[in-house]
Amino acid sequence: MTAVETGVKSVLITEEEIRSAVKKCGEEISQKYSGKKVLLVGILKGSFVFISDLAREITIPCEIDFMAASSYGSSTVSSGSVNITRDIASDLSGYSVIIAEDILDSGNTLSKIKKILLERNPDSLEIIVLLDKPERRTADIEPDKALFKIPDKFVVGYGLDFNEQYRNLKYVGEL
Ligand code: IMP
Ligand code: MG
Repeated sequence: MTAVETGVKSVLITEEEIRSAVKKCGEEISQKYSGKKVLLVGILKGSFVFISDLAREITIPCEIDFMAASSYGSSTVSSGSVNITRDIASDLSGYSVIIAEDILDSGNTLSKIKKILLERNPDSLEIIVLLDKPERRTADIEPDKALFKIPDKFVVGYGLDFNEQYRNLKYVGEL
C-alpha cells in the first residue's frame, strides 16, 4: 500500500531502510551471542513484524516467545499503569534474553517488563527497539540498541498501529 492509499501523511522510514537496519542488527546479535542460549522476547502486538524479520536475520540458534502488555489511558499516550496479559517462563536462568519492541516512547511498558524479567535471573538482558522516541520519555529506561531515533510524532506501520489499523504497512509513516 502506498502512503496515499492509506491516508498516511508521509513516509518516515522506508521499507529498504528498515530491511538493511534489521539485517545489520541480526548480524550483530549472531556475533555477540554465538554459543549462548538466546531467548528472543517479542512484546505483542506491536513487535510482531519486527521480531519476525529480525529472527530471520539471526543465524545462531534461538528461542522465540512473546509477552503482551496493555496500558490504559488514551489511545496515543501511554498511561503509567501497565498490565501483563501474556507471560513467558518464570525462570530465565541460563538464557541470554533479548527483548524486541516496536517503540520506546514514555518507557512505562518496557521499564515494567524489564524489571519483571530481571527478577527471573537471566544470564543477560538486552532491550532492542525498532524506534526510539526519546523526547517523551518519563520512565528511567534507555534501549541498549535502537534501530532508528524519531522525533515526537505519532507513527504507524511495520507493526505499529493506530486503533488497530496500519500494522500491515511495510514502512513507518506519520499519521
Ligand atoms: P511506552 O509509552 O514507551 O510505554 O509505549 C507503549 C506503547 O505505546 C508502545 O509499545 C506502542 O505500542 C505504543 N506507541 C507509542 N508511541 C507510538 C506511536 O508513535 N505509534 C504507535 N504506537 C505507539
Ligand atoms: Mg507496543
